[in-house]
Amino acid sequence: MSRRSKLKFMALAITVAAVSMARANGETEFSSPDGIPAEVWRYFVPRDNPVTPAKVELGRLLFFDKKLSVDGSVSCASCHDPKLAFTDGKPVAEGVAGRLGKRNSPTLLNSMFNAGQFWDGRAESLEAQAIQPLINPDEMGNKSHDQVVGRLRAIPQYAARFKKVFGSEITIDLVAKAVASFERTLVSANSPFDRFAGGDLDAMSEEARRGFALFRGKARCTVCHSVSQFSLQAFPFMTDQMFHNTGVAVNDRSFEPLAGLLSRAGKNVTAPEEMISIARREGSASLGRFLSTGDSLDIGAFRTPSLRDVELTAPYFHDGSAKTLADVVKFYMKGGKNNLNRDWELQSLTLTETEQQELIEFLKSLTSDNTRRMAAAEYARATLRH
Ligand code: HEC
Ligand code: HEC
Repeated sequence: MSRRSKLKFMALAITVAAVSMARANGETEFSSPDGIPAEVWRYFVPRDNPVTPAKVELGRLLFFDKKLSVDGSVSCASCHDPKLAFTDGKPVAEGVAGRLGKRNSPTLLNSMFNAGQFWDGRAESLEAQAIQPLINPDEMGNKSHDQVVGRLRAIPQYAARFKKVFGSEITIDLVAKAVASFERTLVSANSPFDRFAGGDLDAMSEEARRGFALFRGKARCTVCHSVSQFSLQAFPFMTDQMFHNTGVAVNDRSFEPLAGLLSRAGKNVTAPEEMISIARREGSASLGRFLSTGDSLDIGAFRTPSLRDVELTAPYFHDGSAKTLADVVKFYMKGGKNNLNRDWELQSLTLTETEQQELIEFLKSLTSDNTRRMAAAEYARATLRH
């Protein structure tokens, strides 16, 4: 984790007082939901891209617009559909001309709080992330950012809106700023768990409460999906924002041979640049965090995802290999999948059928009211006609 993200994360972990949103400088009308303190939300909004209602609306229009893809067939929402908590329900993403990607489409809810974007954290910010799908051949398929900008400039409504919001003609950086601002309104909390954490002990069923005890206790989930013993609101996303190898990567056959080679070359220190570029060329998406850091300890490591709304985001893991939450729990009972770089904290678990069900009930208590509201088509309303 970079120093900056570590600082951000600490701020998130220690800021627990919920306050109502101050509307400093008339910047925003957005108010963060219960469970995520408004100060935390504000902290994660970059100074050079304040959230304003007009910018959010522009970002929303872009997000749902298929014109962003090379053949007009795919929008951001094709893979991040509000009805499915901003996922697509598929094991791996499907882009233009039915091309299959290598990874599962993550939810965008609360993505603004991620220590880095993508399963391997390789993009520093939502802005840096937003321009990548546009030119990914397996996603939106454009040849260049200029191609996208050219297409948007030819649409008078967009030209006018960019002028109004940014006082400028359309550039790729401004497209990114608008889309990222929209994404910063995709915040989800207000779940039964948040009400429970706020003192309403009946907000979670007895089964879910027993599941929570297992989650923190015998099932050892909080080793990575963090919960503070002092304040249930201190880690609102149940992630340590770190990268771990749980063994999901082993599903990819090319993983172990390549991982073995790289580990030997790196001997647990940073692998030589040439090895990293070989790995990138091989395109082994299962090498995970290693592709960003070149650190052999990061081979096959992926970001601990937030568990909010996880009930609605199947299938699971970076490769979509677990169909249900029951499959996820079974995976952990085996201690994940063994491999050279598996996280040493993982160990096999004994959980009865009832206990497994309780753990799942707990995970379901993390589904937020906001998410259900966003699924109700409101966000896809009125796309731009052009
Ligand atoms: C073809 C499907 C597809 C399209 C289209 C697509 N995405 Fe994604 N998105 C994905 C996949 C798959 C990942 C994870 C990729 C990875 O980790 O390497 C992802 C990751 C992300 C992330 C990082 C979230 C996280 O938890 O790390 C954000 C943010 C995001 N997409 C936003 C967008 C935006 C904005 C657009 C439109 C400009 C878009 N996506 C278009 C499939 C898609
Ligand atoms: C060693 C750290 C670690 C532990 C312990 C751990 N997890 Fe995870 N969890 C992760 C990582 C990393 C991923 C992503 C793995 C991947 O996709 O390659 C993940 C993924 C998940 C997912 C899928 C989320 C999604 O959006 O796809 C669920 C659900 C989950 N974990 C629940 C649990 C539960 C329940 C436990 C306890 C039984 C647990 N985890 C224990 C690190 C951990």
